Amino acid sequence: MLNLTPKALSPSPFLFNPILAKTLNPNPNTRFTAIPNQFPHQNCKSEYRTERGLEFETGETFFRHESATGRDLGVLAASLYKRSKGQLRVLDALCGCGIRSLRYLVGAEADFVLANDANDEYRSIISENLSRAVPRGFGDERRWSVTHFDANRAMAECYVQREFFDFIDVDSFGSDSSFLRSAMNALKLDGLIYATSTDGYTSGGHRPHQSLAAYGAYVRPMPYSNEIGLRMLIGGAVREASVLGYRVTPLFSYYSYHGPVFRVMLRLNRGKLVDDRHYGFIGYCHHCGNSQAFSWNELGRIRCPCTDSKVSGPRYVVSGPLWAGPLHDAAYLTEMLNLAEQWAWVGSGTGADLEKLLKQMIDESDPKLPFGYIKLDEVASRAKINSPPLRIMMDTLHKEGYAASRSHIASNAIKTNCPMAECMRIAKNLRHSLPC
Ligand SMILES: C[S@@+](CC[C@H](N)C(=O)[O-])C[C@H]1O[C@@H](n2cnc3c(N)ncnc32)[C@H](O)[C@@H]1O
Ligand SMILES: [Zn+2]
Repeated sequence: MLNLTPKALSPSPFLFNPILAKTLNPNPNTRFTAIPNQFPHQNCKSEYRTERGLEFETGETFFRHESATGRDLGVLAASLYKRSKGQLRVLDALCGCGIRSLRYLVGAEADFVLANDANDEYRSIISENLSRAVPRGFGDERRWSVTHFDANRAMAECYVQREFFDFIDVDSFGSDSSFLRSAMNALKLDGLIYATSTDGYTSGGHRPHQSLAAYGAYVRPMPYSNEIGLRMLIGGAVREASVLGYRVTPLFSYYSYHGPVFRVMLRLNRGKLVDDRHYGFIGYCHHCGNSQAFSWNELGRIRCPCTDSKVSGPRYVVSGPLWAGPLHDAAYLTEMLNLAEQWAWVGSGTGADLEKLLKQMIDESDPKLPFGYIKLDEVASRAKINSPPLRIMMDTLHKEGYAASRSHIASNAIKTNCPMAECMRIAKNLRHSLPC
């Protein structure tokens, strides 16, 4: 089994240098250098599978069935796009066995899908998976094509040929952000990019120079690092968009612990960010447990208001610049939930998970809620008590007038505008009112 690494494949995102390509790959029939598979445990033996009623084969491709929810979210968004614009051309830039392409073609009724994967050994499996459900068609009626370029080259060629797409899915590994700008160049205005990062180590603040290189953000360890991972990815896209005179708006942001995988659905438009405060710095105080956002013009004056000057140095952690604005658009998520209901994707069984996820994301979109979340274990350890029950804690916060919701990212955590000291007081009081 062979796998291809983006770094080995894409020395430059836009320039195709035939001499370099030949050096990288002396065999002209396989376009790219192959190296031994880095993720052998994640590959599946060839077998037939079914996802949302569609049959496909995974062969020796990289496939994770745990990513089905991420694919569901992508298909719902693509279908909403088709319903509102009346057309849908999809570029599936790193398609693996082609499951996403298949789902966009059938589930979202895409007019055309370009299924690209650098590994040309996947060609027959992708073509078979697509042709089983959708005849390829000819000329203007063609429904799909399969290519085997480095994703940056595939997207750059679309840009050069002025073959723009409505929806680009970039299901990449690690923190490879080099695809973002190529995707923006190949996208129609008002189109959607479904971007991915799988680098939990970097979003956890353990490689600040890597996050700086990839997303332009110096990320430090913070208690809500998986939300930081989403904000790092959106922030990186904001930066790339601004270079081109564009802005991106997140429609939803999804963290999945399988991987982990950070996925964001971004809409691309011309112009500047609507609110400058949405791209800035986030600080967390180890002393009081509170977090705060800072804008660029506050640089140099960053300190926690809990004390005027005492809390600085290692007790105050700052990451950024990152996306500090809303992670989701609640109205958009409500449309996705309605569509999922129409398609009977919600309800009992596996549908319950998608329904729960979408409802939690809608709750998280309350504009009164700040970024981050408070882990109940942190409240308990600061208050020197046992962790309070999440539901009762949330109800009490609501009764006391605070905004509070669960986080889809962390199970025993609450998003709230209640300061840590108040959370500790409420948790301590609950201890007395709850039965032993
Ligand atoms: C995460 S897998 C894709 C999984 C697939 N989208 C799915 O949902 O099952 C990433 C794929 O990218 C391909 N790949 C790696 N580097 C690439 C590059 N630079 N350009 C295009 N494809 C690449 C790999 O062969 C692999 O199939
Ligand atoms: Zn403080």
